[in-house]
Amino acid sequence: MKKALAIALSSLLALSLAACTTPAASTPAASTPVASTPAASTPAASTGGTELKANVGACIYKFDDTFMTGVRNQMEATAKEIGTTIEIVDSQNKQPTQNEQVDTYITKGVDALAVNPVDRTAAAPLVEKAKAEELPIVFLNREPEADVMASYDKVWYVGAKAEESGTMSGQIIVDYFKANPEADTNGDGTIQYVMLQGEPGHQDATLRTEYSIKAIQDGGFKVEDLGTDTAQWDKVKATDLMKTFISKNGIDKIEAVLANNDDMALGAIEALKAEGYNTGDPDKYIPVVGVDATAPALAAMKDGSLLGTVLNDAVNQGAATVKIAAAAANGLEINEANIGYAVTDGKYVWIPYVMVTADNYQDFM
Ligand code: GAL
Repeated sequence: MKKALAIALSSLLALSLAACTTPAASTPAASTPVASTPAASTPAASTGGTELKANVGACIYKFDDTFMTGVRNQMEATAKEIGTTIEIVDSQNKQPTQNEQVDTYITKGVDALAVNPVDRTAAAPLVEKAKAEELPIVFLNREPEADVMASYDKVWYVGAKAEESGTMSGQIIVDYFKANPEADTNGDGTIQYVMLQGEPGHQDATLRTEYSIKAIQDGGFKVEDLGTDTAQWDKVKATDLMKTFISKNGIDKIEAVLANNDDMALGAIEALKAEGYNTGDPDKYIPVVGVDATAPALAAMKDGSLLGTVLNDAVNQGAATVKIAAAAANGLEINEANIGYAVTDGKYVWIPYVMVTADNYQDFM
């Protein structure tokens, strides 16, 4: 979304907020985007200057994750903006550690919890803990199962529809092959691809993989899978995995690289560069697509090594999470008027993805 459009939308929402009998009273100050998040993304709305005093205890599955660092920075920025106190801890990719952290927050007497689960299928005990204390709990980025979401009336989820990001990344490949028929290097009418996947079991890994391939097929291309495996969202692991794909197939057989996130796309590019690919020689170029639109990915689009990505909107995901937690802690109903984001089924806030190509990447830098 272009900055001007984001600001216009933000002001529009602010006006409608001011018209309602909600805590929103004045125009929201657009929060300053933080380092590793796209500059063009502005929170859709704020609580309009009204303070929402609350103590929120938050856990992030691990701090050493590029995209989640952007979300975390925004959570801190939004909390400051609305007068909420937030503590955020690193769950170090261990579910038992996170469970203990939630216990500690409860003992300390927080007013609400915000949790990015380590294992999204292990959210039930966390909901039980919150329920026992009648505390609001907001999950983010890793979606608990529907029955867990339905097991308590003070549980919410903030995330993005993974299918959407898969479709968009597949569409970027379709557009590229339509514009550059010679990219089908062996001319067999089939796109030979490799896929670097995120963590197994994560909805974003499963659905981005499935929907990106579906979009390529819907775009009229046949596909051949030369290798699909996990690199756990991690750049270094992705370089190793890409090297394995290259030595298994031969680099000249690979026509496209799809990665479930930007860190892995950038890791794959390192492996391509080591073979003299994607460094500026048009005869040695393989299109690579990621997801997230992190700052390093946008820089790689600028230097031409990364074809495209999809904005995973860390700013609005972080802002929505804190606004729900603070509003719920103050006993407010969680609806669009009170938090500035549409709420589906009373429990879900879906932040849209945006396709990022050569035409618009500069809007996100
Ligand atoms: C995804 C994101 C990945 C990683 C993961 C962590 O949405 O695209 O880069 O941060 O979440 O759960």
